[in-house]
Amino acid sequence: MKLAILPGDGIGPEIVAQAVKVLKALNLNMTMTEAPIGGAGYEASGDPLPDATLQLALDSDAVLLGAVGDWKYDKLERHLRPERGLLRIRKALNLFANLRPALLYPELAGASTLKPEVVSGLDIMIVRELTGDIYFGQPRGISSLPNGEREGINTMRYCESEIRRIGRVAFDIAMKRRQPGQKAKVCSVDKANVLETTELWRQVMIELSADYPEVELSHMYVDNAAMQLIRAPKQFDVMVTGNIFGDILSDEASMLTGSIGMLPSASLDENNKGMYEPSHGSAPDIAGKNIANPLATILSAAMMLRYTFNDESNALRIENAVKKALAQGYRTADIATDGCKQVGCSEMGDAVVAAL
Ligand code: IPM
Ligand code: MG
Repeated sequence: MKLAILPGDGIGPEIVAQAVKVLKALNLNMTMTEAPIGGAGYEASGDPLPDATLQLALDSDAVLLGAVGDWKYDKLERHLRPERGLLRIRKALNLFANLRPALLYPELAGASTLKPEVVSGLDIMIVRELTGDIYFGQPRGISSLPNGEREGINTMRYCESEIRRIGRVAFDIAMKRRQPGQKAKVCSVDKANVLETTELWRQVMIELSADYPEVELSHMYVDNAAMQLIRAPKQFDVMVTGNIFGDILSDEASMLTGSIGMLPSASLDENNKGMYEPSHGSAPDIAGKNIANPLATILSAAMMLRYTFNDESNALRIENAVKKALAQGYRTADIATDGCKQVGCSEMGDAVVAAL
């Protein structure tokens, strides 16, 4: 098992260190090699995705990533900014399927801004397409019109095969998640009333659903989906959507669970090679203070064992250790409540290791 470790920027290095600690405690036969990405890549070699980092990622079975970005790079030309490094590695590794689970741990029901009865038992899987859509469509850019005014352009586009392959991922996951006696559900989110790209999206999802008679497919416009996620989130099981809608809805869904600091993610290619990262960003304001929540990154390592290495038992071992640490009262600042044991980032890592 060859693993590329890309800590990135901001809190990236400290949270990744905790996930590495947990993986090492499992004594798996795994080699780990570290490389810079994002602002760290830019500092190291003038490129947010240095060639050597990309090569390492290509040569590895999986990538564990912290986070990229820092305000201090906002003035750089767009292609040098940390976010470009992330988008390029997703594209270069063909990681088209982004899985973002929103799972509420019972111990954290009080940390959500929503009423406990609205969120308790919440377990949603957002399947976001990650290598297409308006994020990558051409033409794009800022140019000048003949009248001297500037114009910005991005292009929303999807071809059929891109929609079909992410649809398959969603339907397959719904089948795997199905509980005895319950129907598997996929809700496809689009804006088919306005955007042709997503009209096609809806057509392809309907065609695909013929292959999955056990799965109940529904459709929702993205504006309504944003509202329903807050109103009655438990109506959802698997949600599948394009890159930009998935970006927005997954941030929204994360807050249902109390803190964005809890949510892992997996980005997979056709062969389940993957990059694993927390759904949250680099939080440069709290970097280096040992107060960040490492659980999303630790849970991302669990997803890595499950999806890339097919090691369900060690994935569960990590997830259960996280639950145990929470049940023992350990909390980082973002999820702290009265009477808990408030700890720093590395102490939370230690608590999970101890609970393994
Ligand atoms: C995410 C992030 C990225 C995205 C940024 C950092 C480019 O928001 O992973 O959700 O928009 O995909
Ligand atoms: Mg985002």
